[in-house]
Amino acid sequence: MITQWLIEKKRDGAVLSDQEIREFIAGYNNGSIPDYQMAALAMAIFFQGMTAAETAALTDAMMRSGDQISFDGWSRPVADKHSTGGIGDKLSLVIAPLAAAAGLAVPKISGRGLGITGGTLDKLESIPGYDTCLSIAEFKRVVEVVGCSIIGQTESLAPADKKLYALRDVTGTVPSIPLITASIMSKKLAAGAATLVFDVKCGRAAFMKSQQDAEALAKSLVTVGRALDRKCGAIITNMDQPLGRTAGNAVEVIEAIETLKGGGPPDTRLLAVELTAQMTVLSNVYPELDNAREKLAGLLENGAALACFRHMVEEQKGDARVIDDYTRFPQPGATVEIRAAAEGFVREVNAETIGRVVLQLGGGRRKTEDVIDRAAGVDSLAQQGQRVEKGGVLMRLHARSAELARSMVESAQAAVMISDTPPQERELIIALN
Ligand code: URA
Repeated sequence: MITQWLIEKKRDGAVLSDQEIREFIAGYNNGSIPDYQMAALAMAIFFQGMTAAETAALTDAMMRSGDQISFDGWSRPVADKHSTGGIGDKLSLVIAPLAAAAGLAVPKISGRGLGITGGTLDKLESIPGYDTCLSIAEFKRVVEVVGCSIIGQTESLAPADKKLYALRDVTGTVPSIPLITASIMSKKLAAGAATLVFDVKCGRAAFMKSQQDAEALAKSLVTVGRALDRKCGAIITNMDQPLGRTAGNAVEVIEAIETLKGGGPPDTRLLAVELTAQMTVLSNVYPELDNAREKLAGLLENGAALACFRHMVEEQKGDARVIDDYTRFPQPGATVEIRAAAEGFVREVNAETIGRVVLQLGGGRRKTEDVIDRAAGVDSLAQQGQRVEKGGVLMRLHARSAELARSMVESAQAAVMISDTPPQERELIIALN
């Protein structure tokens, strides 16, 4: 294989064969193809795109660049969901134990937050002692005894993606649907799930701003998953407003626990049930979606999903007493309330602004090596359409100092628009695939 010929082939809009893609990725992974040639190919893909077959071949090659976890022979169906990330998205913390309570095995490998979107690992690590760095053998053991486990990315799963993602980040080649698809799918497939459900966020604070782009990504993920023999479904959901009434780390875990206790905000509960329903129906645990929604609501009401969460926390050495006593979570140094300047209806809560506020309060990272404050964040967040009185609380800001919390008051106030008339109700679920 002459590497530059393949770059030229893609540059000129031709279709690469499975073998050409496989050899390119293998060469990049073992260091024989340098970064500059991979960057050139990524840019050619960015401009020329890839067919579904090429994207599937790229995904497969990246998945095979490292270890693959096998659940062959397991009696429980193995399933997972992936979200493209948003503000206040604590759904994995609800869905993994809920799906486990329904009889699925959920081996979940999650990421950390970067920029304005939070990460499941950072949230979970606000539970004192919770270990996100299990060996693969230990991870599988926890999935077997609990039904779910959530850990961080290991070095050995899809290493070509890790290398390529870092390269894309500095070469302007992140927003390419085939490259995003291969990146997301290679990690998910290496983790071993037979069924995958995608929550593709769409809106102001999402990776995909327009419905058209979100639909294209959802279609690409589902098509490639099916081409590689997985059962796949996707939901496109609104990310103009934050999900739920909290954004941060410890505050989001508390809200997830409330949802697992049968309460929680309606949007969080609705999406958790909907995505888990898709996972269970695709995995043949329940025969159809309405039946699944009803059964899953029952597992939230009767404590079965909460019991799985508690068991997972215990197995991963976390202090499960936090579930009954929220004061055991990291506590903020100061809390400041944001109050409404006028009465009316909450017209919108700008998710992007809330994400920036959380980041500046210390709850997020600007660079991968930044240390985050797990107690920092926002809670009691007003919901779109809610009626508020003048002086009513729109949200509370938590930070390590009163000075830091007060420095964010103006931005936080600007995130909430109040109007005299109720706004049009937002559609949380925009489309199903
Ligand atoms: N998330 C990923 O894992 N990869 C991408 O390319 C984009 C989002």
